[in-house]
Parts: sequence; structure tokens; C-alpha cells
Amino acid sequence: MTIKKLHPSHASLRGELKVPGDKSISHRSVIFGSLANGRTTITNFLDGEDCMRTIHAFQQMGVSIEINDQTITIDSKGIANLQEPIEPINLGNSGTTARLLLGVLAGLPFHFTLFGDESLTKRPMDRVAVPLREMGAIIDGRENGKYLPLSVRGGHLSSISFETPVKSAQVKSGVLLAGLLAEGVTSVAEKTTTRDHTENMLQAFGVKIEKQNNHISIEGKQQLAGIDIEVPGDISSAAFFLAAAAITEGSQLTIKDVGLNLTRTGIVDVLKQMGANMEVVEERSIGGEAIGRITISSSALQGQVIEGDIIPRVIDEIPLIALLATQAKGRTIIRDAEELRFKETDRIATVVNTLQALGATIEATDDGMIITGNTELKGGDVDSYGDHRIGMMIAIASLVAKDTIYLNNPACIAVSYPKFFEDLEKISR
Ligand code: S3P
Repeated sequence: MTIKKLHPSHASLRGELKVPGDKSISHRSVIFGSLANGRTTITNFLDGEDCMRTIHAFQQMGVSIEINDQTITIDSKGIANLQEPIEPINLGNSGTTARLLLGVLAGLPFHFTLFGDESLTKRPMDRVAVPLREMGAIIDGRENGKYLPLSVRGGHLSSISFETPVKSAQVKSGVLLAGLLAEGVTSVAEKTTTRDHTENMLQAFGVKIEKQNNHISIEGKQQLAGIDIEVPGDISSAAFFLAAAAITEGSQLTIKDVGLNLTRTGIVDVLKQMGANMEVVEERSIGGEAIGRITISSSALQGQVIEGDIIPRVIDEIPLIALLATQAKGRTIIRDAEELRFKETDRIATVVNTLQALGATIEATDDGMIITGNTELKGGDVDSYGDHRIGMMIAIASLVAKDTIYLNNPACIAVSYPKFFEDLEKISR
């Protein structure tokens, strides 16, 4: 296994940067493009390992998908022409591929076998399998079909009214996709708003949906027509550099062409609450997705309480917020974030273990963590635990640490940001 030596740089981050395409939007663009009739062209696609899993799954179902760096061209004859794959589908590390694809496969008259890597094999799939079974799909696997590998026999689906018991856009999206293939009107209600890229993209592909507060309805059997999509920069990737600029003295950084969808910009709100100097400018909107620029400069930060409805808007940024909190004055309390336990790793445990190993004062709670700030971090041996966001959090920690950090297993960062270290280098002064 490789180890990356991260010297304490204390560099400031300066200049302008465009981060790779949004992971959630990239997945969805391939899924909807494959279900649509005609050509879909996607630019600024995230060519990380996770999104490649989604591409390969639809290639296995006979869809023509051409990859030219970050431009993807899909030529599809629509849902009716998808084919039964001969080989099992490998989902790798990708929870989004797993949950969204399950929704599609449930409505196709074929048999599928799905498997993933060690991490994905431990993540719950019953959150989507249960409603899909209720609609008529036959899904089985270990522990009554809770975990991968799964066997899916799809086919005729009936519509349902479903209230998501978990705060998860993946579950909402899986059921909406099945609803698109089902007979009748399927509705999904969620207690807390989660990212709404599925709803935005369905509409961009010509599908009619009804949305009232947190209640979404979709009539089945609608046709999708191919479109051109530009994927905004991923705010979850930008977040690493925003956090880095906030805590390294003398920084002034602009992230260009980044997605500013309000269901994703919780990190901007948290940084501002903590006292960061930031300016956010919305410049345009494509397919219902706002795009713009964020400028940030370093400043003193103050601990905060982060809880309630903001949690789904920052769910992937909580490892970073914990790191920011170690550099902020006072206490930060993160609550209502029990979903962190079901990510690529149990991120309450992996964040707390990692930051403790680096000398931070942090403790785990059932649904979050408590951090007491303004600690100088030290160096040492730490592990990404195979989780891309933990790996990148450690790299940012090394910018302010006293000694060298040895990061075990940095390769997982390629899941969402293959050129992370090159980009960090570009803006370090
Ligand atoms: C995602 C939703 C979130 C997020 C994940 C991507 C999506 O997961 O953590 O990185 O693209 O829908 P949950 O929906 O399980 O919260």
C-alpha cells in the first residue's frame, strides 16, 4: 500500500481554480442520458472512479457511451432498448451508482447481479430495496437483501407513495427513477430537503414532475429526450480548498464555475457563520443548476453549533467542518448527522480517530461530534481508511500541522478527485 508524505507547508492558497465536475450531477447525467432517446453530450464530466462505474453499468446494458476526457457522448434508443447484461455489474465504491441504479433496474424486465468493493458491501441497500420491492421488484441478497451482492429481477412496477425514513437523496432518487418506469403516479415525501439534482435533471430531460415543499410526484412511462449538459464544478471538492484558504494565513482564493445549488451550499453558510471572509456570486444557471464563483480569504474562525435542516446540505463536508473546528476558537457541536455512519466509512468514527491521532480535542457522539478548538495539529501516521473525503481532509490538515503527516492509502482520492494533489500544488504559494 502506498504512503504519501505530507510536509507541513503552511503555504497560503492564492489564485483561481476550477474544480472537477460535480459527482452527483455527473452520475445523473449518465443515467438520464442512457434512459433518453437520442444523443446526450455531457461536458465537464467528473472522470473519477465512481462516475466511471455508472458509465460501465449502462455500457453493459448496450448503451453507446463514448469518453473523451471530460466530454461524454451518449447515444441511446431509450429505456425500451436497454439489454440484459451478461456479466455482474461492479459498483466499486459508489453508493450513488448502487442506489440510483437499483431504481432503474427494478423497472427493467431482466435479471441483474450487483456487487461492490469491501466498503460498499457493508453499506445498507435495504433503504432502497424495501420501497422497490413494494413496487414489485424482486431483490435478494445477504441478510434479506440488505447488503451487496444483490440479485435483482425487475419488471412491471406499480406506483407507491413513499415517505423516506432516512435523510437521503440517493433513496429519494432511486424511488423516483423506479416511479419513472412504473405504472401510475409515484410520490416521495422527505422530512428534510436533500439535494435535488434528480428533480432538476428530470425536468431538463423533458419529464414532468410535481414538487410541493418536500413532496415530489412523478407520472410513470414518460419519455426522455437527449440534451446537452454542462456539469458545474463540484462544491464538495471546492470545499477542501475553501476550508484550506480559511485556515492558512495570507490566503485569497477564487473557485470558478462551481455549482451553487442551494441544497449543496451549506458549507458556504457554515464557513460564513464561523467568520470566514467570503463572497459568492451566482453567474448563470444551466438545467436548473446555479453556477458561479466563490472567493475566500483567511480569517479567524469561531466554533458553532451545526444541527437540523442544514445537515443534508453539508453532509459530505462534515469531515472538513470538523477539521475547521480544530482551528477555530471555542467549541463546535455537530448534531443530527447520524447518516455519517453509513458513508464510505463510518465518518463519525473515522473523522474522530484521525483528528485525535493528529492531536485534536474531539469526541464522538451518537449523531455527530464535539470539537474544542484552536489546537495546533501534529504530524504522524494516519490512514484514509479507503475513504476519499477522509484522505483529502488529512491533506488539508497537513497544511497547518506542525510536523510531517504520513497518509496511508491516498489512492482512494481518485474516487471523486483524481487530480486533487496537482490542483492543491497549483494554488499553493
Ligand atoms: C449523494 C447523496 C448523498 C451524498 C453522496 C451523494 C447523491 O448521500 O452523501 O455523496 O448523489 O445523491 P445520501 O443520499 O445517502 O445522503
